[in-house]
Amino acid sequence: MKRFANPLALSALAACAVSLVGWQVHAESNRVAFPELDTLVHYTTVKRGNVTEHIMTTPEAMAAVKSGKPIPAGTHFVLVDHRDGKLYRYFVMERGAGFGADYDASRRTADWQFQWFWPDKSINKDENTARCQSCHRSQQGSDYLFTAYRIPRFNGTPVE
Ligand code: HEC
Repeated sequence: MKRFANPLALSALAACAVSLVGWQVHAESNRVAFPELDTLVHYTTVKRGNVTEHIMTTPEAMAAVKSGKPIPAGTHFVLVDHRDGKLYRYFVMERGAGFGADYDASRRTADWQFQWFWPDKSINKDENTARCQSCHRSQQGSDYLFTAYRIPRFNGTPVE
């Protein structure tokens, strides 16, 4: 108790909190651009409780996955997240030449970067996209994607 009554310790604590927030905001502007949704193909739907996710990507990426080729630079994958039938947010992954170099090896997800956009397409500045990368790193063997394995089964109707 006595320690926290010390004004020096308190100001050190405040400075720490401020720099942490500053770091998070700074960390979150990255190279992911909001994609042209009209050009993407909705290949699968994931439903869980009141959540419905429409997952989509480019025709070029779908062709690459189907023929076992690498997914090209410039590809977006988008998870359009609806809650109770209303648009809630967009999760976006983009692959770009050199994108991986922005992160150190412990965080890197090859040349993919991640971003969270609100329905007005603004970035959620409170998110630290290291979290996205950390979870998607478990899918390293399938190009950091959880649902790409469904693409070969797509025949015009989103796979469920
Ligand atoms: C705790 C693990 C976890 C975290 C954290 C996470 N994801 Fe995912 N992500 C998944 C899973 C699992 C799926 C497959 C769909 C599902 O089951 O909901 C997925 C699917 C996706 C997809 C569709 C492509 C694919 O991999 O199938 C995108 C795009 C995506 N996530 C982006 C993001 C973004 C952006 C963030 C951070 C803001 C993020 N994810 C954080 C687990 C995670």
